[in-house]
Amino acid sequence: MTGQPGRGRPLDPTTQDRVDLGFTRGDTLLVTGAASGIGRAVALNAARMGLRVSAWDLQAGPLATLAEEIGATGGEVMTVVGDVSDEATVRDGFAELAGRFGPARYLANNAGPPSSVPLEFDEAVRISVGSVRRMTETWAATGLPEGAAMVATTSVAGNLVGTESDWYSASKAAVMGYVRHLAAHRAGEFRSNGVAPGMTDTPRLAGYADSEAGQHILGRIPLRRMGSADDMALAILFLLSPLAAYVNGVLLPVDGGWTVTQ
Ligand SMILES: NC(=O)c1ccc[n+]([C@@H]2O[C@H](COP(=O)([O-])OP(=O)(O)OC[C@H]3O[C@@H](n4cnc5c(N)ncnc54)[C@H](O)[C@@H]3O)[C@@H](O)[C@H]2O)c1
Repeated sequence: MTGQPGRGRPLDPTTQDRVDLGFTRGDTLLVTGAASGIGRAVALNAARMGLRVSAWDLQAGPLATLAEEIGATGGEVMTVVGDVSDEATVRDGFAELAGRFGPARYLANNAGPPSSVPLEFDEAVRISVGSVRRMTETWAATGLPEGAAMVATTSVAGNLVGTESDWYSASKAAVMGYVRHLAAHRAGEFRSNGVAPGMTDTPRLAGYADSEAGQHILGRIPLRRMGSADDMALAILFLLSPLAAYVNGVLLPVDGGWTVTQ
């Protein structure tokens, strides 16, 4: 979806190859949910900026495609296939990462189930919030380099608006609560921040913009377009980057101004 003139056209990162946000080439970024949407855009943009990428996802096929794409442009990538809410996957994934790239300076906790799935509440919170905590604690135990940083993909849901799915709003607010805890009590090890995407054009929202509910939201977004996966990825990468060295504990809405119209 393209933007209107003067309404914040989405950046085309493929033409922005001089942008590196101050990252050191060869540093490692781990991103979960990397096979699709926002996580995939984080992985691709990070690789373009010279970072090594550890890409984790449930979906083996799309993850392999991502790895091929990064490899074809000379980037370095390793993949972990599995569920980030599963203890063994996380333990084994970090062991593999240690053997390949060593500790990752940057962690993007991005994976999470779609709000459209009718999950049982307790189980949904375990998956959505528990996975972020498990990934973060395991990552922190690897012996982090100076300047380490973590960003969680939360949502406007639960943090700035209440949405229909009870577990989704509750989980996204809980993830941000955990981020605030980390920012306050673990800042000696790493910085922690949250990005809150608004309505974002990823496979999970395919067709939604054309629905009545989607049109209603679009009509209230001052920038008059959905966010792109790159819009979210670049905000995540900024918060991870050295440019954000003094940013700790914030929730950054990336929603085209939607929530200020609520
Ligand atoms: N798209 C939006 O409008 C929107 C809005 C607000 C927040 N978000 C959040 O952004 C994040 C990414 O969403 P997206 O829109 O890119 O979705 P997406 O469906 O395009 O991609 C999500 C990826 O995460 C993977 N994944 C899900 N659960 C996993 C698990 N337990 N272990 C490993 N991998 C897992 C999926 O396989 C998929 O590849 C999610 O946390 C979502 O809640 C999205």
